[in-house]
Amino acid sequence: MQKAKESTEILSQKNILQNALDYIKEYFSNDHSGHDAQHTIRVYKLASRIAEQEAADLFLVQLAALLHDVDDRKLSPDTSAEKNNAVSFMKNQGIEDTVIRTVCTIIDEISFAGEDSVTPQSIEGKCVQDADRLDAIGAIGIARAFTYGGNHDRVLYDPQEKPCLHMSKEEYHSHISTTINHFYEKLFLLKDLMNTAAAKEIAEHRDQIMRDYIEEFLLEWDGIR
Ligand code: ADP
Ligand code: NI
Repeated sequence: MQKAKESTEILSQKNILQNALDYIKEYFSNDHSGHDAQHTIRVYKLASRIAEQEAADLFLVQLAALLHDVDDRKLSPDTSAEKNNAVSFMKNQGIEDTVIRTVCTIIDEISFAGEDSVTPQSIEGKCVQDADRLDAIGAIGIARAFTYGGNHDRVLYDPQEKPCLHMSKEEYHSHISTTINHFYEKLFLLKDLMNTAAAKEIAEHRDQIMRDYIEEFLLEWDGIR
């Protein structure tokens, strides 16, 4: 009896995750700004990998990873405070209120906000935050930064414009920088902000890829290489 109950629960969690996957594919179908469904799917995969090593609750991690950007403050400013999109999706799936609240807290705590960034309270939140940040660094991170820069008409690089360090949340959100400065203002900081051992190890490698790339970029800029 107990076994049968467990297997129905597992099946329904699987169904919910499949529905979440279908939902985000539809939700991001017109977005090419670097916040697309493929970003969410990569975060989902990385978060699952980290969660397994951290013995975190896999369902919570996977659901939060899949829904983490559907109420993003830049893409959906009207729903971001209350997480209306994520909440309605979860309510439609019959998910209980305590789980809805937990997922919303994980999503709330995820974002990089300069010096006001928070460390998630739960291990599940730590896994999802690490996965989202890992997708902002390394080879993929470089590609996403330039995609974002192109999409927002940002200047590629200006040696006269120095990176702005130690920004508050408000300063970070209103700051307009060159794409190269974004590496100094956010991407190079992420390695040391990883929460889990698994993510720290992946971040070491990805961080080095970016540093080698920027070193080469600056040498080419000055005509040295
Ligand atoms: P997240 O998915 O972590 O919430 P953001 O919304 O901050 O990420 O940004 C989406 C992507 O765009 C990330 O890869 C990020 O590094 C990049 N990005 C954000 N702001 C800038 C910027 N000012 N210049 C270049 N890339 C940026
Ligand atoms: Ni994200």
